[in-house]
This record gives sequence, structure tokens and C-alpha cells, in this order.
Amino acid sequence: MAKYKIAVLSGDGTGPEVIAEALKVLKAVERKYDIEFEFNEALIGGCAYDKFGTPLPDSTLELAKNSDAVMLGAVGDWKYDTLPPEVRPERALLGIRKGLNLFANLRPAIVFEELVSSSPLKAENVAGVNIMIIRELTGDVYFGTPKGIETQNGKRIGFNNMIYNEDEIRRIAHVAFKTAMQRGKKLCSVDKANVLDVSRLWREIMIEVSKEYPEVELSHMYVDNAAMQIIRAPKQFDTIATGNIFGDILSDEASMLSGSLGLLPSASLGDDGKVGLYEPIHGSAPDLKGKDIANPIATILSAAMMMKYSFKNDDAYNLIEKAIKNVLKQGYRTQDIMSEGKTLVGTSKMGDLIVEEILKQ
Ligand code: IPM
Ligand code: MG
Repeated sequence: MAKYKIAVLSGDGTGPEVIAEALKVLKAVERKYDIEFEFNEALIGGCAYDKFGTPLPDSTLELAKNSDAVMLGAVGDWKYDTLPPEVRPERALLGIRKGLNLFANLRPAIVFEELVSSSPLKAENVAGVNIMIIRELTGDVYFGTPKGIETQNGKRIGFNNMIYNEDEIRRIAHVAFKTAMQRGKKLCSVDKANVLDVSRLWREIMIEVSKEYPEVELSHMYVDNAAMQIIRAPKQFDTIATGNIFGDILSDEASMLSGSLGLLPSASLGDDGKVGLYEPIHGSAPDLKGKDIANPIATILSAAMMMKYSFKNDDAYNLIEKAIKNVLKQGYRTQDIMSEGKTLVGTSKMGDLIVEEILKQ
């Protein structure tokens, strides 16, 4: 029997509530296949700061490194907004991504047929949308140096450095082309090469790597145009490759195609065979904490991505996805995707319904 060690980092706000539902689902998956999970919990984010004075304790990073995969909830709360930047909860996310060398962030934006009406956009434009955004995750202006706030000639200046070296671009390009090969063989690389030098290099390397994937049709788009096209005609996209900051922004935007941030999962991957990290793309939503109203679907889908990308079990991925679709088909909705005539359920009930569906299959 295959045994996997999973680090469970629930974090802050609604993180623990949505993670609890993902664990229920994984336990159901365990019953369906010849696998066993060992779940080990550790603190990350504000709760870790409260206990250890740092949002990413060494012990948490060590646990993650010694696991087969990491399930992460979300970090952050308003009460930490006044902390110095080095110990803010968000730093833990950046730290764990860098610490595990998770340079490739896969953010699928899929519009479920059952939820077409929850999208603020016209149904005919969003029905059938299935975009995979590949966001570079350990470089760019997020990590570039020099950075800081300094006083020069009596004036304060703030600065960050948007920087990529060619190897960083090349390795994310390979992930993007390989992903596109398994999908619609269409890759759109998003940059700002009309203004930024770093983007000119990005584009050059994308073109160079494309020679190794002759079957993939590569196109380029400036990020401002891409932001517009994602709303105007999202179905033109299959796979998108972009840098860290552009990917951050475009993935939040793309989530609205499906109507709720509460639906979109993500996988963060490093070199082949190394530990992967799975988390919803939404934040900790501290205003919803403890109310049993957060949507657990993004986290449950993240667990499904873990089955697919870390444990190469596409069957389990499909099983979980199908269970979610069935529950939506039956009319159950959390508050964020609620509409007239549907049945409102809480976080935990939504998890239970999905588990029931899994066990029925
Ligand atoms: C995300 C988040 C993070 C990011 C923040 C919380 C550091 O917005 O995962 O998209 O900017 O990467
Ligand atoms: Mg973001």
C-alpha cells in the first residue's frame, strides 16, 4: 500500500475550517484506493507568530520538507496589519514557496457548468472556460533585490527590483509548454515587453524554449491587454504562462469568471518528484472565520490537485471533481455562490455532501 506524509498547515482565519473539509475528502479517498495518508499539523502565519514570534517557524518548514506534500489553508488577519513586514503572515507564504523551491504555480480557472449563472459575466462568454494559468512563483519583483525604503537627499524612496535570470525563465517555460502539451497545445505568454527589459528577456527565452515543443502554438500578449481579454473573451485562452506579479493579479481576475474566489485551487510545484504545495487561491477571510460559511470547494479541489500532481492519481482527481459537480447539480450552494431556488449550506455540510458523493461512486 502506498503511504504518503502530508503536512497540514491550516493557518489563520477560515483556513482551519476549509482544511478540515479537505481532510474529510482525503480520508474518503483513502477508503477508495490502496493508499494511506499520515497527516502532520504545524502552525503557519499569524497563529505561528503568536506562538513563536515568527510566521514561518523552522520546525514548520522542516516538516514540509520532510513530507510528500503540503496542504495549506490561508494566512493573515487584520490584527497583524501593523506588524513589521518581516513578520507579517504573508511572509510565511513567500518563505515556504522559496524554502521548498516551488517555482511553478498552477492556477486553473474552470467554470463549472452548474455555476455559469454565478458569474458576473454573460453566460455565453464563460460557459466552458477552462484556463490554466502557470505563474512563476519564486522570482520577479517579489524577491528581487535591492529593495526597501530609504531616504535619499532628504526624500524617502521605495523600490523593488523586477528581475529574472534566464534559467528561472527557462524552467518555468518548460513547465508551461509541458502543461500546454497535455491540454489544448496553445500557450499564451503574458509580459510587458513593450516597456520592461525583464519582459524582453522573458519573451526571448519563451521563443527559444518553444523550439523544443513544435506542436504547441505559442502566442504573446501584453499584460494590460491580457487583463482585458480575460474578461472580454476568456475562451480564447488555454494555457497562460506569466511571471510572479502578473500571475498574482491575473489569477484573481480569472477567478471571477467562475463567480467566486472560493472555487479556485492551486498547486505549487518544484523540480520533479519534490514536495508540492496545495492551497486555495483565496485568502483567510477573517470576517467569515468561525461562522461555517466559507466555501471549502477551492481547498477540496486543491486536495484533488495533490492527488493528480504529487501522487499521479488522475482517477482520484476525477472522482473528487465529479463529486463536487454532482453536489452542485443537486442544488447545494455555499453563501458566496448562492442563487435563487438553490439550497444554502455551510462549510462543513458542503464537505459532508462531497464526501457522501465520493463514497457513492
Ligand atoms: C497569492 C497571494 C499571495 C501572493 C500573498 C498573500 C503573499 O495573493 O497567493 O496569490 O501575492 O502571492
Ligand atoms: Mg494573490
